Amino acid sequence: MKLNEVFDSYKKNIVPSYSKVPLVFTKGKGSYLWDIRGKKYLDFFPGWGVGNLGHCHPKVMQAVREQVSKLIFIPNNYYHIPQAKLAREVIRCSFPAKVFFCNSGAEANEAAIKFSRKFGCGRYEIVTFENSFHGRTLAALAATGQKKYQEGFAPLPEGFKCVRFNDIEAVKSALVPKTVAIMLELVQGEGGINVAQKDFVRGLRKICDEKKLLLIIDEVQTGIGRTGKFFCYEHYGIIPDIITLAKASGGGLPIGMMVVRREISDILGPGMHASTFGGSPLVTNTALAVFKAIDKDKLLQNASAMSDYLFSRLNRLKDECLLVKEVRGIGLMIGVELNIEGASVVEQCAQKGVLLNCTHGNVLRIMPALGVSKKEIDKAMGVLESVLRGNEK
Ligand SMILES: Cc1ncc(COP(=O)(O)O)c(C=O)c1O
Repeated sequence: MKLNEVFDSYKKNIVPSYSKVPLVFTKGKGSYLWDIRGKKYLDFFPGWGVGNLGHCHPKVMQAVREQVSKLIFIPNNYYHIPQAKLAREVIRCSFPAKVFFCNSGAEANEAAIKFSRKFGCGRYEIVTFENSFHGRTLAALAATGQKKYQEGFAPLPEGFKCVRFNDIEAVKSALVPKTVAIMLELVQGEGGINVAQKDFVRGLRKICDEKKLLLIIDEVQTGIGRTGKFFCYEHYGIIPDIITLAKASGGGLPIGMMVVRREISDILGPGMHASTFGGSPLVTNTALAVFKAIDKDKLLQNASAMSDYLFSRLNRLKDECLLVKEVRGIGLMIGVELNIEGASVVEQCAQKGVLLNCTHGNVLRIMPALGVSKKEIDKAMGVLESVLRGNEK
């Protein structure tokens, strides 16, 4: 297909629910992508949070190849080895728990919401936060604390109370007898890279313990090494009751997981919740390779070291460039808040071969692969600096 044929087919045949950048990619490797014309791009936002291992990691490709020739799919009324192994690995990396497998972040959050309602035995309300994002299915959307995503889709399921982020008093005053859980991202991704404060999160854990509420941490974007630890909650010295995972877990294949504390996990009995494709052999074998590669390639160590380097470069840029208002984030999940709209900065960087993202209007979102090198950071920073300087004039 030629470039214009691709655009034409999208225009005629695909529901236009995404705003799109006019680039057609045909190949990826590590931190790089190539478009249909052969132009090379340094990808500092690989896969919208999916590409923690970069594009086409050799271990991911090997796992797909191995499994695809043995068994691609088996339904969940039977057993298979990759699912058993992956569940064990997820728990080794997190806390004593059991896993429910599904296919996406929204679906993992739906599972957590349904789980909470079963757990609540009549209590059903979940406290959520302004600027949060939990997905596009109706309950996940109702949990999302951003009106712009909800407009036009009423009526949304009831049972969510949205309060200010990082405000423990607001949480306390939202609690009622029917409250069953508190649900949050520790770094709000779509909401503009807003970091939860340590005292706040510890305060939430205390409230949940005292009132017998579930603490649900949405690790869909922050998980799988993104913040320099396997899971972001590890930075906070707490153990959640539930974490939800997706995005980077499958190395590019669709997977979602709800990981729930073992003592309460059997509340969802046979027939209460299901997902046909959830945890298939192909996907779980690949996810297992992702989990192992993070250990074997020492990606958490690299992410932490490269995070320090990238933050130091960005903070220097902030001191020198009036357009940069704030730099924030954890690990390699970084937001650069600008004094101008971010969309055209992202576009200009793409023209110069560096892919970034802009969220919340004016926050550049920088989330390179965990194996990113100093050289790649220098290259991306060189482009970003020159684009911002150009916009200062
Ligand atoms: C924190 C968080 N939760 C949930 C979701 C929804 O995930 P999915 O698009 O896989 O349904 C996202 C997607 O961006 C997310 O960032």
